[in-house]
Amino acid sequence: MALNIALVGCGGMGLRHLHGFIEHSKKFDSLEMIAVCDVNEAAARHVADVAEEHLGRRPKVYTDFNAMLAAEPLDLLDIVTDTRMHHTFAEAAFEAGLHVMTEKPIGITLKAGRRMRDAAQKSGKILSVAENYRRDPLCRLAKALIDNGAIGQPRMAMDVHLGGGDTLMHNTAWRAMKSRGGGMVIDAGVHAADLLLFYLGDATRIYAETGIFETTRYRREMNANLKKFYGHRTDDIQAENEAVQVDAIDSGFGVIRFESGAICNFTVSEAVKAHQFAMGTIHGSLGTMTMPGPRSGVNGAVIQLDGDDRKISGDDLLSMVPADFRHDDITAAYFGAAPISAYDMPFEQADRTLLAIEYEEFARCAISGEQPEVDATVGMKALALSYALLESGEIGAPVTLNEVMDGTVAEYQRSIDEENRV
Ligand SMILES: NC(=O)c1ccc[n+]([C@@H]2O[C@H](COP(=O)([O-])OP(=O)(O)OC[C@H]3O[C@@H](n4cnc5c(N)ncnc54)[C@H](O)[C@@H]3O)[C@@H](O)[C@H]2O)c1
Repeated sequence: MALNIALVGCGGMGLRHLHGFIEHSKKFDSLEMIAVCDVNEAAARHVADVAEEHLGRRPKVYTDFNAMLAAEPLDLLDIVTDTRMHHTFAEAAFEAGLHVMTEKPIGITLKAGRRMRDAAQKSGKILSVAENYRRDPLCRLAKALIDNGAIGQPRMAMDVHLGGGDTLMHNTAWRAMKSRGGGMVIDAGVHAADLLLFYLGDATRIYAETGIFETTRYRREMNANLKKFYGHRTDDIQAENEAVQVDAIDSGFGVIRFESGAICNFTVSEAVKAHQFAMGTIHGSLGTMTMPGPRSGVNGAVIQLDGDDRKISGDDLLSMVPADFRHDDITAAYFGAAPISAYDMPFEQADRTLLAIEYEEFARCAISGEQPEVDATVGMKALALSYALLESGEIGAPVTLNEVMDGTVAEYQRSIDEENRV
């Protein structure tokens, strides 16, 4: 029998989750979406309309989360609200005996994450973090290549993300506000942090310089692609204004030391004008790997070995992983069991396919009691690595990942916790 799930948060990513859910229901029958909730009723109705059109059954629409929790026979909850609500809804759901999947970052701060982890443990229910990038088969292949020593022992990495200008990302004002999202080093940086930990293992010490370079950000006309996902939502913050005041750090320039000894330059800036640039490379004792672009299908890893001019890419990479390397069976349902170096899917299809994989893993864990791949600890480590930049920048000294994880260092996060009563 299918487990009953509800979606709370029907904005841009909530709509994308629904499309992931539709994709999931084409292959699996483990879940039924019986309710959706958003304080913005029009957004919730829009998501319910899309569900009805594709699934043939309309989830019930709620604007009050507690009313939904009290009324519906739910087994699982999918949290896709903006980040500051994740812990409140997760705790209420665990209290009510539900399993929880939440969008990244796990919570608004590490304290929120610890509360969610503790509530999950107390209830004995599953907490899964919907971190989608690492689930891309091109990222799975990159990880298998690194683990198999294709570039030797990783020594250094460069992970640089520059862009943004003075635009509000996705026209969402909460992303520019410290108390609502922590800032872009958290909201966007947490994906990159998760991938660095996935590829290189645990981090130990982090030093960073940080800044706010754009104190005013602007809503801009959305292009057609963005409109597909964010066109139905309205902003609850200064919605009538084009200009929004920014109080969240927009740029972090960090250096990370990993337990393995590897050193990484990790930079995230959302305030770079007239230029968009991203690069990710891992430099090992035998050569260099360019990291793949998740959900692209075509920007796979590229390896160059010392003393060899060739750039090894595409299917030539497949002989560099162990012959018995296979995708897990959920990933295999969408991409096949054998490793792949490319796939032919537009972004939207790749996006919803990775979300479908997350849903099925969540359902299986809820049934079996097994922990998901990105559990509370894995989700918190990625959040801690992102916050480590901001904490180090705040106090002007290196911090350890453990200090940020356990809350010993939390200067930047203190006001966020206070404002959100975490
Ligand atoms: N994994 C990814 O690739 C990815 C991409 C985008 C966003 N996200 C994450 O998804 C989450 C949502 O981001 P978004 O871009 O969809 O933002 P959004 O602002 O478009 O959507 C958030 C929605 O939550 C609703 N909401 C807020 N408080 C609520 C409450 N108390 N009760 C019910 N609904 C409430 C808002 O009305 C809004 O519709 C964030 O945590 C973000 O970091 C992840």
